[in-house]
Order: sequence, then structure tokens, then C-alpha cells
Amino acid sequence: MKPGITEFIRTPEGRALEYFHEGEDEFLQTQTGIKYPIYKEIICVLDNISLTGNNENYQKMYDRFSMFYDFTTKIYARFKSGNEKNRLLQYLSLLDIKNGDKVIEISIGTGRNIKYLNPDAEFYGIDISLGMLRQCQKKMKRLMREITLIQAEAESLPIKDDSFDVVFSAGGFNFFNNPGKAVIEMLRIAKSGTKILITDETEKLRLKYNKNDFYKASEIKNPVTYLPDSCRNIEYKEICDGDLYVLTFNKP
Ligand SMILES: C[S@@+](CC[C@H](N)C(=O)[O-])C[C@H]1O[C@@H](n2cnc3c(N)ncnc32)[C@H](O)[C@@H]1O
Repeated sequence: MKPGITEFIRTPEGRALEYFHEGEDEFLQTQTGIKYPIYKEIICVLDNISLTGNNENYQKMYDRFSMFYDFTTKIYARFKSGNEKNRLLQYLSLLDIKNGDKVIEISIGTGRNIKYLNPDAEFYGIDISLGMLRQCQKKMKRLMREITLIQAEAESLPIKDDSFDVVFSAGGFNFFNNPGKAVIEMLRIAKSGTKILITDETEKLRLKYNKNDFYKASEIKNPVTYLPDSCRNIEYKEICDGDLYVLTFNKP
């Protein structure tokens, strides 16, 4: 476990946690007595039983699909943009990551973005699916990249306020039960002035899918509508031939 993690890891309700080792590694919330397990170094701060709606459905879907995710996304990116790196760099190049920065990806999945980012930063990843996080962990070991992984909901980030220099989410936002709440959470855990980036598929792409009876996705709202008025430098654009939107903004 990364030294110093207890300084900023919290329960989903924002209470402090203590590292606890009695047979197994765990975090303990001393007032409530609730223990949060650490499964193969992944910190699980999620009440699986209370998951509902999209969060419950997509957790199950991604747990099952996790082993095939990298293969299928690589094939899709090759078909769409020639190669995966070109496609991902269209949004990752908008992040400015300095040496030593604390960087967090919300809905990190298998961590396919991380290998294209400054290796001299400190990385953290959150996802609702333990299956995806396990794949991510194996990949990071192969790449010899250090990362701290946390299983949690984007709508209740178990992180202390003002903790991160870079906050981003790629490909999860349209799935969240409550995207507005996730934006408020990303702003809360970002340090003042931090650039936040959100990218996902556009409504245009969804409509293309929906012509196909096999795939019916629900409506995608323009993500700008979720931003509080206080956000600065709001920029929205479409990339990858209009398949993806990228929204960037700064915490005041
Ligand atoms: C399409 S994948 C994107 C993974 C990765 N960011 C990438 O670019 O390849 C979507 C991810 O969002 C995660 N996810 C869905 N809803 C979530 C939620 N409410 N909170 C956290 N993660 C969520 C899924 O488990 C899945 O790993």
C-alpha cells in the first residue's frame, strides 16, 4: 500500500479511514466500525449491495467483459482511426501532466490510457468494476507502472477534498447513474485551478447505433449542461470524426 494513502482516502460519505491489519489488509472507519477490504492491493470502498440502475448493470457487464475489453477496443480503434494510440491521443494530449503531479482517472477500466501519460506522475484509478480493476492492475505490473486502484462509484468518490492536480474520465461518463453528481465529485477532489477532462461518445454516435436494432443506448445529454456556473475555461469539442466529445474546464 502506498505510504500516505490514509491522508486522503475516505469512506463514500467522507469519513476518515485507518489502515488496519489483522490477518487481512483492510481500512477501518473507527466511529462506525465499518471495514473496507483491500483485495489484492485494490482498495474496495463500495457498498455493492446498494448499487442500483446503470451502476449495478454496468458493473455486472464490465466484470464479465473485462478479459476481452482491451482486445475489442483495440480492434475498434484500429478500424476507426488506424491505431489506438492516435485515437486516445486526440483527448489525452489535452491533459498537461507535470512530473510529480497527482493524477486520477475516474472509470479507469483496464487503464489503457495510462501508458500514454507522463510516467513521472503519481497515478490513481477509480472504477466500479473489480474485474476491470484487476485487468488494469495486471497491465500496470507488466508495464512496470505504479498505480493505486480503488473500487468506488464516480458519484461518491472516497477521496478528501482538493487532493488532485489532474482529474479525468474517459469513456465512463455516459454510463453513470448520475453524471451531474460525478462532475461535482470530480470538482471536489481536484485542487483549485485544476483542469478536468471528460470524454465519451457523442449523441450523434448513439443515433448511429440506434439504427441497429441490436444496440439501443439511452439518450446522451450534452455534458456541458452538468457544469456549475463557477467552472472556468469551459471548452467542448468533438473529435474522432464526431464519435467522441471532449469537455475540459478548470476548477475555480
Ligand atoms: C468504456 S469503459 C472505459 C474504460 C477506460 N477509461 C478506457 O478509456 O478504456 C467504462 C468504464 O466505466 C466504468 N463505470 C461505469 N459506471 C461507473 C460508475 N458509476 N463509477 C465508476 N466507474 C464506472 C465501467 O466499469 C468501465 O470500466
